[in-house]
Amino acid sequence: STLENIRNFCIIAHIDHGKSTLADRLLDATHAVAERDRMDQILDTMDIERERGITIKAQAVRVLYPREDGEYNLNLIDTPGHVDFAYEVSRAIAACEGALLVVDASQGIQAQTLANLYLAMEHDLEIIPILNKIDLPMADVPAATEELVELLGVDPDDIIKISAKTGQGVPEVLDAIVDRVPHPETTEEETRGLVFDSYYDPYRGVVSLVRLVDGELKKGDEVKAMRADERFELLEVGCYSPKPTALPSLRAGEVGYVIAGLKDIEALRVGDTVTRVAQPAEKALPGYAQALPTVFSGLYPTEGDDFERLRDALSKLQLNDASLFFEPENSKMGFGFRCGFLGLLHMEIVQERLEREFDLDLIASSPSARYEVVMEDEVRIVTNPSDLPEAYLEIREPVVRATLIGPKEYVGQVMSLCHERRGVQVGMEYISSRRVQLTYDLPLAEIITDFFDALKSRTKGYASFDYDFKGYEVSDLVKVEVIVSGDIVDALSIIVHRDKAYYRGRALVEKLKELIPRQQFEVPIQAAMGKRVIARETVRAYRKDVIAKCYGGDITRKRKLLEKQKAGKRRMKQVGSVEIPQEAFLAALKL
Ligand code: GTP
Repeated sequence: STLENIRNFCIIAHIDHGKSTLADRLLDATHAVAERDRMDQILDTMDIERERGITIKAQAVRVLYPREDGEYNLNLIDTPGHVDFAYEVSRAIAACEGALLVVDASQGIQAQTLANLYLAMEHDLEIIPILNKIDLPMADVPAATEELVELLGVDPDDIIKISAKTGQGVPEVLDAIVDRVPHPETTEEETRGLVFDSYYDPYRGVVSLVRLVDGELKKGDEVKAMRADERFELLEVGCYSPKPTALPSLRAGEVGYVIAGLKDIEALRVGDTVTRVAQPAEKALPGYAQALPTVFSGLYPTEGDDFERLRDALSKLQLNDASLFFEPENSKMGFGFRCGFLGLLHMEIVQERLEREFDLDLIASSPSARYEVVMEDEVRIVTNPSDLPEAYLEIREPVVRATLIGPKEYVGQVMSLCHERRGVQVGMEYISSRRVQLTYDLPLAEIITDFFDALKSRTKGYASFDYDFKGYEVSDLVKVEVIVSGDIVDALSIIVHRDKAYYRGRALVEKLKELIPRQQFEVPIQAAMGKRVIARETVRAYRKDVIAKCYGGDITRKRKLLEKQKAGKRRMKQVGSVEIPQEAFLAALKL
């Protein structure tokens, strides 16, 4: 294919507005998938994605689209919609010339619609606005059109109205991709390919997704990762159509994968530039800004001797997920790793992937934001509440600028929620006659808890929200420690605003009382600020041995009980003399 016949595009949207469904329809329309290979949502390859129905990793698929004026080579890069994965979106965007902006016609523009749109505009992508789900009875095409016209300044006729479910309008989308998205251009002779994703395949080694910007890459080429300054030979190049398909070469403008069969999984990192050793490029392509983790937690194997396996698993996962941060940590829970995540969903998914893909049983300690603690002679970074020093000059906490969008009748609800969460209002504007966009500065610690759930429940699910890191601000914060059976359990400690310390300490202890199972002895649970105990509850002991009670009785009942205990054990950790379940470490998030 020539450059003129290539189109590289992505689909961006708010969560659940129908990206994956549209992607599937585009593949159907181009007969990319044999009938027997069909499965719902082909692009979501990971099990977790299928189960949760969300897209986590960006994927790149090539389809051929024959038209009267020629055969086009369309490279579709699917992107995730959840706020935690915005960094994946920006990577995908850097590999494209155009973006389909999908908006659910029954929902209108939402917070991530805007966030993703702004990313695409920063990269000068051609935006094709699409209203999806027009088959729904609740679809309000005129209202959603009004919002898009207002936002993009486009002609209403340029907005394509579709149903990704029924396929209505999908042919127009294909034509718009060919007619409106510019074809890629190349300026250099020397080969340069941008690595925009990378993963570890147990059979094939490291597989990297590459957008060839200049030149050509062939099987057998000796290549170099320009930033890492590492050399290796290409064992295979190819594209996904949608299955991995080997090709003789990848050329300028194309998107595909390269396999370098690296043993060293560090070598070909996302954001690096691949060039040929024989005729190397002079300058690497601009990479990506490193995504900064915002939520930190300790990950501990429930079995102490799995520490090295966990280290290995984290390194492999990091290749696929550059935003994941980890370093060894030692606490009352034993040996584990302090990990940094982009948000709570990211944290949950990492834990789940580690357990499933690497067969580990893990416990995550109570999540924390990252704080700057100003001391006499240094600024100390604290990501673990138990590391908060007793004396300091001041503490600064991360603050985000949040965008909240919802129907105007819920504005009061949204404002009072933000106020309770220590928010400061920055702006308010109407995006259409019925919907309002609010801008707030909020402490990150207040939104990594149950903010999103609270917002959804107070606005009947109608409000959406997105945020960007703003900076650090001085705040009056204190540490609340939890003492279980006389031992401080560092993994349960939290950092909170002084005004909320009593309330949160009390609520936390009450919650822990429900979550910590009865043991053979009485377990007192206390919350303390410094030396002062601010709340106390007790988990009472078992009266009798549970198993003994079943002897001589129904055997299946006994087995069930044992199985229940075994299943319950998976996410439990012995801390001192007490077994603490995973939910207890997450209790502070849901007070
Ligand atoms: P994430 O990958 O999680 O960001 O979601 P997504 O944007 O890919 O959304 P997805 O394609 O998974 O669609 C979300 C839901 O909307 C699914 O239940 C789809 O079946 C449904 N859906 C998508 N398009 C349409 C449509 O045109 N009409 C109707 N009625 N439902 C649709």
